[in-house]
Amino acid sequence: MHKSVLDILKMKQEKKKISVITSYDYTLASLCDKAEIDIILVGDSAGMVMLGYENTIPVTMEHMCLFTEAVSNARKNSLLVSDLPFMSYQTSIEDAIKNSGRLIKAGADAVKLEGGAEMISTIKAIVEIGIPVMGHIGLQPQTTMLSEGYRVQGKTKESAEKLIKDAKKLEDAGVFSIALEMVSQEVAEIISQSIKIPTIGIGSGAKCDGQVLVIQDLLGMYDKIKPKFAKRYMNLSEDIVKSLKEYKNDIQNQTFPSVEHSFEMESNELEKLRGEIGEK
Ligand code: KIV
Repeated sequence: MHKSVLDILKMKQEKKKISVITSYDYTLASLCDKAEIDIILVGDSAGMVMLGYENTIPVTMEHMCLFTEAVSNARKNSLLVSDLPFMSYQTSIEDAIKNSGRLIKAGADAVKLEGGAEMISTIKAIVEIGIPVMGHIGLQPQTTMLSEGYRVQGKTKESAEKLIKDAKKLEDAGVFSIALEMVSQEVAEIISQSIKIPTIGIGSGAKCDGQVLVIQDLLGMYDKIKPKFAKRYMNLSEDIVKSLKEYKNDIQNQTFPSVEHSFEMESNELEKLRGEIGEK
């Protein structure tokens, strides 16, 4: 049985830190699940790391459902949360409910959406029909990228107060956790202490109740943007390119495929064939 939203809430009560990683495909999601990561997030960061867009704006429900299905086929233990993409929930409460339902049918256990106080009625409507919601405040790539770009949030008293108020409102609206993206560590700590549900930080310091990273950043597979907060645990892109060059060389030198990678015909059948086509 995989982890539930209640298991995640209990982790905060028991002061256990929550591990979250993004994933978008069957192969890597299987490894995340095997590593017993608590939550796999099918993030709309897929727009950049899987589809090569500049930002998350072009991501559609069709993309998110496909990625969610692939991850859901792999997951056995982790909780699976999927992002509602840009314009799939901002347009109306009906759209928000319908599209949350599509992600759940594709295999998600919960959905994540960006926004503070302005999203309260939408969140309440989704939660009321029984779909768990993760909030997302601080840097909100779907909208702040259009106006401000990547900037740390909560650096001034005013901005800190808004974030703290937004977090409380999201908790009251019924979200089971809140992602805090690029929030100053002091504000992230105040929020984490002032609400009962877990905060999941990305670039928001060590005092959040959990941490999330984009898997390509962690594995060193995506070089276009290298955020300061993203710890690289390996340099997989170097190893992959090295292996691909070896493969190309092996083909050119005819050292691949060798006998161990090839299949043989039965010898008597081969003889008969050769006789028929006149070969010795
Ligand atoms: O899309 C995503 O990967 C996210 C994380 C950065 C929290 O929303």
